[in-house]
Amino acid sequence: MAAFDLTAKSFGDDFLWGVAISAAQNEGAYTQDGREPSIWDTFSLRRGKIKDGSNPYTSCDFYHRYKDDLLLVKALGFKVFRFSISWPRVLPDGTGRVNKEGMAFYHRVIDECLKLGLIPYVTLYHWDLPQVLENEGGWASYRMLKWFNHFVTVCAEAFGDKVKDWIILNEPMGFVSLGYMLGMHAPGKMGLNNFLPALHNAVLAQAEGGRIIRSLVKNAHIGTCFSCSEIKPFSERTEDVEAAKRMDILLNRLPVEPLLGGGYPKEDFKLIERLEMHNKAWKYTSRMQFDFDFIGLQNYFPLVVKYNPLIPVVQASEVKAAYRKVPYTSMGWEINGESFYNIIKRFWEYEGIKEIIITESGAAFKDKMVNGVINDVERVDYFKEYLAALLKAKNEGVNIKGCFIWTLMDNFEWAEGYKSRFGLVYTDFDTRLRTIKASGYWFRDFFTAK
Ligand code: NOJ
Repeated sequence: MAAFDLTAKSFGDDFLWGVAISAAQNEGAYTQDGREPSIWDTFSLRRGKIKDGSNPYTSCDFYHRYKDDLLLVKALGFKVFRFSISWPRVLPDGTGRVNKEGMAFYHRVIDECLKLGLIPYVTLYHWDLPQVLENEGGWASYRMLKWFNHFVTVCAEAFGDKVKDWIILNEPMGFVSLGYMLGMHAPGKMGLNNFLPALHNAVLAQAEGGRIIRSLVKNAHIGTCFSCSEIKPFSERTEDVEAAKRMDILLNRLPVEPLLGGGYPKEDFKLIERLEMHNKAWKYTSRMQFDFDFIGLQNYFPLVVKYNPLIPVVQASEVKAAYRKVPYTSMGWEINGESFYNIIKRFWEYEGIKEIIITESGAAFKDKMVNGVINDVERVDYFKEYLAALLKAKNEGVNIKGCFIWTLMDNFEWAEGYKSRFGLVYTDFDTRLRTIKASGYWFRDFFTAK
């Protein structure tokens, strides 16, 4: 898709431009003011789990530097600040006792946003489960919903007067598949016996969370967000086409369809049968549905897949972008604005989705500072291509209300550690100094251009 010279004006004056961060990736201060460990604090102690051997203990130190960081958000011209609440900071025992100092921190962040005229979008769960709850089974436990509902209630009651925009879960399929099936993310569990109950709990939690916010927060605007990828078969051979179908069910359809009232996808796929068994046993089918005000979409790459009988369950594997000789980011993720457009259109076809917000969009590149300047032209080109695709979808009638950039500043990129930089602002992890990259300035000009 050709990139063209576009400006924020083309999206309309009320389009919500934002930046997104998350607690575990940015806050640091991991033992301060009564905070207890999250699964990422303990997971990063396990040898070989974080590529550069790092941990999230200090990260960007957003906990102490939030005022300056919010000024940056404002200076770059964004209207929305999306951040998450660290569960082990506000409920150090996972459940029960509320940590006043932890709550006070989020009040300070929210108040600062409001003072600067930034709209706070609060994500309730962005992957940092308290370790104490993981010790009891975490997302795979039958008690998970009880814990989660308590956490949501505490946050809604405390912040509901000031925060109207809520995101219940960040990428359920992301944390459930990487954390409870493949062992690549915290808590590092593997196998279907962990994955299936964890997925089902996440599907229930997104709806339950929505209901709780609806009942406790007046005039709330409630969403939850999904990772999504256009899936294409490597060839037209039936086995590749079937493999692509299974991958699509797993990555795109499973977490969203029950929410929209359709239950789990009714397809010939053994995995679904087993999921339904869990579902029946727990008799919660109707509780998987909730009428969200918006759906958050987060698309980073399309996937090309082929049949691979050696891969359990999906029997499909990815054909990497490098192998296919198409452009890709430093994560190895294909750059393809057209597939971003395609996946947005695809989700828009679902009945029951009223409004879409792109709750994350961004890319990692090997940024280099030369004489104090980071000229990240690849990232600027990336956004030109992706925003052109977004505008096309919007102009064709998709109700897209906003787009939040991932991410404000380079931060702890989960199992990748600090080597993968997604920020519009460069973070020096020795000094915590922030330097605005060319892409950050590009956005500032994009917002002000006539
Ligand atoms: C999605 C996740 O929500 C976010 O935490 C992560 O850093 C980005 N993708 C990039 O991988």
